[in-house]
Amino acid sequence: MSNKAKKTRWVYLRAFVYFFLAMAAAAPLVAAQKVELSVDTSKAGAKIDRNIFGQFAEHLGHGIYEGIWVGTDSKIPNTRGIRNDVVAALKALKVPNVRWPGGCFADEYHWRKGIGAQRPVTLNPNWGGVTEPNAFGTHEFMDFLEQIGSDAYVSINVGSGTPQEASEWLEYMTTAQPTTLAKERAVNGHAAPYRIGYLGIGNESWDCGGNMTPDYYLSQMKFYSRFVRNFNPEQQEKNRMLKVAVGPGGGGARWTEWTETIMKAYQHHTWSWDIDGLSMHNYTVVKWPPAFKSVGFEEREYAQILKSTLEMEELIDKHSAIMDKYDPQKKVALVVDEWGGWYAPMPGSNPGFLVQQNSMRDAILAALNLNIFARHADRVRMANIAQMINVLQAMILTDKEKMAMTPTYHVFKMYVPFQDATFVPVTFDAGTYKNGEINLPRVDAIAATDKTGKVWIEVTNVDPNQAAEIEMSFAGIAAKSAAGETLTAPKVDSVNTFDAPTTVAPKPISARVQNRKLTLKVEPKSVTVISVEQ
Ligand code: AHR
Repeated sequence: MSNKAKKTRWVYLRAFVYFFLAMAAAAPLVAAQKVELSVDTSKAGAKIDRNIFGQFAEHLGHGIYEGIWVGTDSKIPNTRGIRNDVVAALKALKVPNVRWPGGCFADEYHWRKGIGAQRPVTLNPNWGGVTEPNAFGTHEFMDFLEQIGSDAYVSINVGSGTPQEASEWLEYMTTAQPTTLAKERAVNGHAAPYRIGYLGIGNESWDCGGNMTPDYYLSQMKFYSRFVRNFNPEQQEKNRMLKVAVGPGGGGARWTEWTETIMKAYQHHTWSWDIDGLSMHNYTVVKWPPAFKSVGFEEREYAQILKSTLEMEELIDKHSAIMDKYDPQKKVALVVDEWGGWYAPMPGSNPGFLVQQNSMRDAILAALNLNIFARHADRVRMANIAQMINVLQAMILTDKEKMAMTPTYHVFKMYVPFQDATFVPVTFDAGTYKNGEINLPRVDAIAATDKTGKVWIEVTNVDPNQAAEIEMSFAGIAAKSAAGETLTAPKVDSVNTFDAPTTVAPKPISARVQNRKLTLKVEPKSVTVISVEQ
């Protein structure tokens, strides 16, 4: 062999060794962890209310304007001003309810400015101090709901409004009688009364909603509960509108006192006022002001955020225990109507617009929270992720005519079969994923049976480095096979962008059958939903 040939062979050999070492470092050959999981379909739990998959759309940044409303003259394809691409994407999520118009915005919203042909331009002092065109008002919101097939969760203005203003808004929206307000509604394009499924009586009244003490809020809330009536004839009895009082925003003494005050009063409430829900707000933020990046972060921040998000369970337990004292029959729902990851604003964006990216970490965060809600389905019967489009932990991002579905969107879509399904117990040893001093459950799982009796299982693998080999056994059914979808990504901070919209997208997965047991290998940092064939 010539010297030249020997040299070439040596170069190739060295390149091969380097390549092998680099591959080994990038993807360590770690064996999948075995997890035994038992599903008992003979023991039915509570119904997982479809409303826990609710959304929140506030007049904030590009949440409404550009995200939903582009106006009838826009080049972006729209139906009566509402963008068609967003509607099509949201329809697939079967969004059960949308909370609107805020948030902090709700306590400064005066509904009359958002109806009719002449709309004043006002200000949005809470969110960037920008102008509010009032182009998207009551009729546009109800049209949007009709287009996506969802129910209205309207937040009335307790902070800077009056019971009279709110009660007239409800009369305007809901009465079938020929009142002056109903005639005005007809002139504005809707003769039939609207259905309002849920009514929020104020928002964060302990803070941006008016800085009230619990007792002060309680007396205000009673006025609104008494006088803000839904007149829709179809909703007078069993389909009546559910009223949600402002509840806690954390777990400290201030918040337990708030829950105590409202629930103690509820225990002795009379015919003249009532509530059906107590709201709770809990963002995953670690420390205030939000400083964690929404993209371009390492495994350490992944672990810190997920540790923080799991505190949701403790918070629900704490406030549920107080509610149980005064409402043992669980008539009042705990409504987690603001939740999700809240990170530092994207560089270059208006900080008042709460713009952030949405990564694989957020997909895991969403699954963990939805599983917590499902495990507390007897009390948590409604929740609203913040927020629907372009704000905080959004489902959808838009930029002019472009649109991208986020990893969180895919989780909500994969969870559709759990809407109104019956919770069934799953037992498993979660194991531990460690990062420094942070210990997290390595896997999480829930199971449910839908109305047709089909069993659905969700498995979240929190561990970003190790796959998990899930061995499932069943009581109550003879499982033959299982298949579904799994969502994972190259990195914990992988995101979908307008140029690369499918970096994080679900793909099919199926289980193997061995001795009547199903074995399913789930990738590191993944969310998987399968249905079982019997
Ligand atoms: O979702 C953003 C804001 O967070 C809401 O307007 C407010 O209710 C909460 O503080």
